Amino acid sequence: MAGLSDSERDVDLFGHEYVQDAPEVWKRLRSECPVAHTSRDGGGWLPTTYSDISSIAYDTERFSSRDVGVVATPDGTSLLVAPPITSDPPFHTDARRMLLPYFSPNAVEDMREVTRSIAIELLDAIDPSDTVDAAEEYARYLPVRVIGSMIGLPEEDCEMFTRWAVDILQSHADEWDRRTQATKEILEYFAATIADRRRAPRDDLISKLQAETLPNGDPLTDKHVLGTCFLLLVAGIDTTWSSIASNLLHLATHDDDRHRLVAEPELIPTAVEEFLRAYSPVTMARVAAEDAEISGCPVAAGEKVFLPFGASNRDPEMFADPDEVVIDRQENRHFAFGIGIHRCLGSNLARMELVVAMEEWLKRFPEFSLAEGADVQWGGTQVRGPRSVPIQVS
Ligand code: HEM
Repeated sequence: MAGLSDSERDVDLFGHEYVQDAPEVWKRLRSECPVAHTSRDGGGWLPTTYSDISSIAYDTERFSSRDVGVVATPDGTSLLVAPPITSDPPFHTDARRMLLPYFSPNAVEDMREVTRSIAIELLDAIDPSDTVDAAEEYARYLPVRVIGSMIGLPEEDCEMFTRWAVDILQSHADEWDRRTQATKEILEYFAATIADRRRAPRDDLISKLQAETLPNGDPLTDKHVLGTCFLLLVAGIDTTWSSIASNLLHLATHDDDRHRLVAEPELIPTAVEEFLRAYSPVTMARVAAEDAEISGCPVAAGEKVFLPFGASNRDPEMFADPDEVVIDRQENRHFAFGIGIHRCLGSNLARMELVVAMEEWLKRFPEFSLAEGADVQWGGTQVRGPRSVPIQVS
């Protein structure tokens, strides 16, 4: 495969074909050219097999997280320091360890009923006599309200948070101004909120982070708290929203699966894992810290390498019938939450939200289908999901 020409290995990560149906593109690439390349938008390498993607994710010495954005920044560094996701070891270990208790199974359990009441409130606001956009009216609002309340932010700001997450994670490579503007606004917002909590601490995550110290005894700087809040807000919204939307799209188009989950709600957590595997929303990037090789392809120091976790989850070497969605699949060691030291810190929270969102939706609307003539458009490369899921409820 190392002998392929540039055009044979070329892939456009922001092109319509890739965004609309990335699994088909990965499938083709896996058989023709498992390590593809793009020279657009700053350029980079795109491995598509489970084995390559995991080796890179584990190799934090040769592949740095100093810029994890799929879209290139003009100066090749991250838009912002957002520990732990933009940190490499050893600092990563401390920054991550400090956050773990806030996202432990017990901490997440405490959020389950709040999440359920938000889901019910959103469902109450839906008018089932008209076409319902499950992505816009339901999926979009649930994660932002949950993470907003955990961090300690006012509910009325949720619309603004969603816009920021969209501008940062869904904007196209040439929409640089949109991304920097959203980042600037978030920074200003958190700078003011953090200063406010220094004056008057509350029982929220911001105040708790401000009281944390690193293992060497140093208190967390405001810059660190700010970067982490930024990360939690951005990582917690678009990812889970995209997953809820793709799960409901699947159920709107697969009657058997929907009927089974209505009849056997205890199967919902297993089905959620399979949906995470099949519709994994997240692709991250790494920067080669030194010259390296991926399956015979030479990667020069400073070049970007993308980690499309969804591609590894559709690799036939790892999963039987990877393109089949089997809602009671038992062996399912998927990578939707990444792998290695950066594995998603919010995975307990995300799983709980996905389960509750589906339980409540199916209780309220056991029968539904895709609206007639609906043309579902997928969006996003760093975080991919169906942006609009028009549904007819009966
Ligand atoms: C379906 C929903 C979600 C998916 C698919 C997802 C996926 C991922 C992936 C693939 C990574 C690895 C990043 C890397 O390797 O560079 C990651 C990291 C992370 N995620 Fe999630 N995520 C989801 C929801 C959440 C939520 C709800 C939160 C919490 C607010 C969250 C917080 C984080 C954080 C803080 C990291 C960085 C961990 C580290 O660098 O050590 N995620 N996520």
